[in-house]
Amino acid sequence: MRLLRLLTLVLAGLAGAPAVAAAAVLVLTAGGATRQFTDGELLASRDAATLAVPHDPSYGGAMTYRAVPLRALLSALPPDAADTLEARATDGFVAQLSRAVIEGAAVPWVAIEDPAHPWPPLPGMTVSAGPFYLIWQHPERAGISTEQWTYALAALTAVASPVQRWPAMTIDSSVPADAPARRGQKVFIANCLPCHRLGGSGEGTVGPDLLRPMPATAYFTEAGLRALIRNPAAVRSWPAQQMPAFAAAIGDSEIDAVIAYLRYLAARR
Ligand code: HEC
Repeated sequence: MRLLRLLTLVLAGLAGAPAVAAAAVLVLTAGGATRQFTDGELLASRDAATLAVPHDPSYGGAMTYRAVPLRALLSALPPDAADTLEARATDGFVAQLSRAVIEGAAVPWVAIEDPAHPWPPLPGMTVSAGPFYLIWQHPERAGISTEQWTYALAALTAVASPVQRWPAMTIDSSVPADAPARRGQKVFIANCLPCHRLGGSGEGTVGPDLLRPMPATAYFTEAGLRALIRNPAAVRSWPAQQMPAFAAAIGDSEIDAVIAYLRYLAARR
């Protein structure tokens, strides 16, 4: 919508129309129905509340938002048997959130940027987290990862789980239940899949596919991969670098598990 907003203004300018910014729209799809909500509609909704977020991972500090509970928004649509909610941002970031996470101990909210009181730009960026931003209350109660907060949110869609949608991401039943690759798959889905595809599996387009054409495990050493996930700039650095550093967000054993999962998929190809 960053681009779209700009385009709308440019087109309005070309047509000689007054430069009134178009209302931001959030699209919700579930149970065979699609509903669109404008920022004004959501800000005026009965469910809107003020929410203080002590540790906002995108802004790196405390923030306060006007927001509506995601569960209330979803209840405006028919029930859906799908077990995942896809959160799509305007910049190619696409998170897959399981129903268990959405209905769990952490409470998801959709924060709405009031055009009359815009949010500050995100650190190191020229745009804010708006116009819609998927945020969490009590994220620590359910181990919500940074990548499960979706800024520049544009659409929420009920879908099948990643492993159902993309069988190429699955782990064969012959692999032991306690194999690190199984844990790595979960860590990957929560932290990496929003930006990276795996051999075409996934919806994200922010970063490269990590399996195709050549698997990342074939051209990175294990130590290099580990260092890159912890802090990409410690491996190589350039101004337009985008991948976030997973500093404290995931533990060493989780990084090892992700690498085991990438190796497993690369070997199976
Ligand atoms: C917010 C988006 C984002 C997330 C989340 C993310 N990455 Fe990245 N990643 C990128 C981008 C973009 C690049 C390309 C280099 C750059 O701009 O930093 C990249 C590059 C990489 C590379 C180097 C690939 C190459 O061929 O150069 C690897 C490996 C990688 N990421 C692994 C991961 C893993 C593993 C995770 C999860 C723990 C992850 N990334 C999470 C955006 C992301």
